Amino acid sequence: MDHAELDHRVVIRFFVCLCAVALLALPINQVRAAPTNDKSDHAITFAKDIAPIFQAKCQDCHRPGTVAPMSLLTYQDARPWAKSIRERVIKHQMPPWHIDRTQGVQHFLNDRSLSDAEVETIVRWVDDGAPLGNPKDLPAPRTWPAEEQWQLAEKFGAPDFVIKSPTFSIAAESDDQWWDPVSTVPVTEARWVRAVEIRPATVAGRRVTHHAIARLWQNDEDSEDRGPRGFSDGSGLLMEWAIGKQYDIFRANTGKLLLPGAEIQWDIHLHANGQPVQDHVELAVYLYPKDSPPKYRTRLMMFRGTQGRFGGIDIPPNSMADVEATTTLAEPARLESFQPHMHLRGKAMSMEAILPDGTVRMISNVDHFDFNWMNNYIYSDEDAPVLPRGTQIRIHAWHDNTTANRNNPDPTVHVGYGRRTTDEMAHAWVNVTYLSDKDYAEWAAQHPQKEKQKEIEKAPSMGSIVAKK
Ligand code: HEC
Repeated sequence: MDHAELDHRVVIRFFVCLCAVALLALPINQVRAAPTNDKSDHAITFAKDIAPIFQAKCQDCHRPGTVAPMSLLTYQDARPWAKSIRERVIKHQMPPWHIDRTQGVQHFLNDRSLSDAEVETIVRWVDDGAPLGNPKDLPAPRTWPAEEQWQLAEKFGAPDFVIKSPTFSIAAESDDQWWDPVSTVPVTEARWVRAVEIRPATVAGRRVTHHAIARLWQNDEDSEDRGPRGFSDGSGLLMEWAIGKQYDIFRANTGKLLLPGAEIQWDIHLHANGQPVQDHVELAVYLYPKDSPPKYRTRLMMFRGTQGRFGGIDIPPNSMADVEATTTLAEPARLESFQPHMHLRGKAMSMEAILPDGTVRMISNVDHFDFNWMNNYIYSDEDAPVLPRGTQIRIHAWHDNTTANRNNPDPTVHVGYGRRTTDEMAHAWVNVTYLSDKDYAEWAAQHPQKEKQKEIEKAPSMGSIVAKK
């Protein structure tokens, strides 16, 4: 493997173009009418109807001390943004959640999208003049753990250990910076991780951090890929921080394995924010007790082409292009999550399962990918797809190198694979848990419907993807 190629593997960077706010949107007629219910006979007010929605779906990001452009805590905060809010929720741009709601798995552990009824309520509120209503109807304000507290502390107690990155600093004005120092993981024997939490240490640091990824390197036998110190990346990412995403709890009885000598390679993307900032990123690790390890190991896999590492990405000027890659599951497996990774020309990505008998099942389709948001879609316990040995996972990615793509910096150039934002990538990060044949057989016996779910869903075509603007 040559060095440049190694570099590509080692540091998978999520780039952002701060000036380009993606305005990819669904046509307005896709907002389905909300079911009529008792709400239709009273005026929609902020106090009664809107505040609860904002608390549940917006305030994690829209409050003081985050990078979101405005707070949505109070009526006074929200009122000036009413028109913009209407626009963003109708187009399913806010909250950021870009999955096709008509195909594939629809239940997620981290779903932050609005229901059709919630969209309809917000639209009616704005159309009626965005009234406050009776302040007595306001719900009690939400509270968040103090900045210095770990969010998972309530559930798991103090973390077993906290790994800190070296200190970074960024000037008030500067180009974007990428930073990838290495820290040691303090374990002296194999230990299982049940949850991780990650954050820049201060609010000021959070404001300049676009993302912070903790990549795990360790001596894992079953991977031929080697990192900077000869370690393998079969263990993959431990955790990524991005606004609105701070922790990961692994599914019951599954975990990530840490081996002695493991290292964390940070991948931190900073953007200047008008004031000089010095900070570090910290990662809290919560372990399973030594005497009760989980039964299954989850690994983050990168589904990509087998014919050359990123073979096939070739996007002519002023056009759309697509690329497909298939990976065969060596064992029965449960897919835990789906995170498409593309750059500025990214438009859509689907993940299908081709079952051993040849039938095709759509698992997920991100049909309005937005480069500004690297969403990870985590399947619910009941709906995480469980697939037999020999299933092929097909990733299909679409790139839009036309002027219709508002993120596109230059439609006149030919674009190929590369790590700069202006080059492209097309792979999916998926947490995969391999199961034994016995466990698969048990699962299939308990879920006869799901095992037999063989209907061939209509795969998205270039035509249907182009139609989504
Ligand atoms: C995961 C974090 C997150 C969540 C959840 C979220 N937002 Fe946002 N929102 C942002 C960020 C960051 C921006 C600025 C970047 C962008 O526009 O994508 C933004 C931008 C916006 C804007 C555009 C402001 C402007 O400049 O015109 C509106 C309106 C908005 N959000 C409303 C909402 C509403 C309403 C909700 C809940 C229903 C919500 N957002 C949920 C993070 C979030």
